[in-house]
Amino acid sequence: MALHGPAHLLDAGELAAMTSLFRRLTPGIRHAPLGDATWRRLASGPDTDFCAAWATSDALEDGHPDEVIAYAQVTRMPADEVWVAELVVEPDHQDQLVHLGAPLLTRALKGSGQHTHYWVSDPTPGHLEVVARLGLHDHRILQQMKRPLPLDAPAELRGLETRPFVVGEDEDVLLEVNRRAFASHPDQGHMTRAQLDERMHQSWFDPRGCLLTEIDGQVAGFCWTKLFDDYDPPLGEIHIIGVDPAFAGRGLGPRLVVAGLEYLAGRGAREGVLFVEGDNDGARAMYDRLGFEVTRTDRAFATSLHG
Ligand SMILES: CC(C)(COP(=O)(O)OP(=O)(O)OC[C@H]1O[C@@H](n2cnc3c(N)ncnc32)[C@H](O)[C@@H]1OP(=O)(O)O)[C@@H](O)C(=O)NCCC(=O)NCCS
Repeated sequence: MALHGPAHLLDAGELAAMTSLFRRLTPGIRHAPLGDATWRRLASGPDTDFCAAWATSDALEDGHPDEVIAYAQVTRMPADEVWVAELVVEPDHQDQLVHLGAPLLTRALKGSGQHTHYWVSDPTPGHLEVVARLGLHDHRILQQMKRPLPLDAPAELRGLETRPFVVGEDEDVLLEVNRRAFASHPDQGHMTRAQLDERMHQSWFDPRGCLLTEIDGQVAGFCWTKLFDDYDPPLGEIHIIGVDPAFAGRGLGPRLVVAGLEYLAGRGAREGVLFVEGDNDGARAMYDRLGFEVTRTDRAFATSLHG
């Protein structure tokens, strides 16, 4: 086994080797199991906001190139000071998770910023050992929830009047409602204009999928959806849902989620997904009632105590 990196650029052969590793792990989806933002960084060329390290197996006797068996990457999040660290280990080498993961992440973290969050889905004792060896701190828990689409929502949750987001007009009001709705969840509530613009420039952004609802001419809440049509079957995400606290407790939240899911189902999504903070009991209860079930728990571990 050999360790490589830290590197700010992968050549075409290395990129192909990483892609092959990801395909072996999640057939059919090119960027998985990395987040789509981190994959874009990996695929886009030399970058000081990106650093990678990887392990290859010993050379095979039949002349095949060495296979990448583990990969670590740190990536600065767009328009943000926070970096994200990810680690991927081939299933056949999971017994070496600590042995591979700790040195690879250490190498990749050399190219990282001050605040880095190492994200792990459904951490095993091996992941927690890596976290301990790196001296990382518990930072955040997100639960992934899913349900099949279309949904057969009760009549009282259907028919909410919404309108699509208007680019160039609705940015400020969306940020303000988001800030007010997520006042107690700063990771989400502090979205800046630059971060909003960055999301609006992604290929998945479609203003029709960001539904706003108004009461007396005032935006009372929004449901921003995201369609992954490269998934089979197509996957629809409730990306952000927020109700202005001035309009809370009137049933807008569940009706907005239903409107978002109906939009996604109408665009071909056969499964709905969302991520909810581990301590957001109110939202969690709403999603339980709408038939969502927890499918994964993602935990973030931070390099610094202040996130
Ligand atoms: C979660 C959220 C969308 C729910 O929206 P909502 O329109 O308030 O939803 P509801 O009217 O169904 O109320 C949800 C619960 O909050 C209670 N509630 C919240 N604020 C209230 C208020 N000001 N007055 C009365 N009840 C209130 C309701 O009684 C209800 O409780 P119940 O589930 O026991 O019946 C909204 O609280 C919100 O925007 N939260 C912050 C953003 C967030 O967490 N989004 C989800 C991220 S994954």
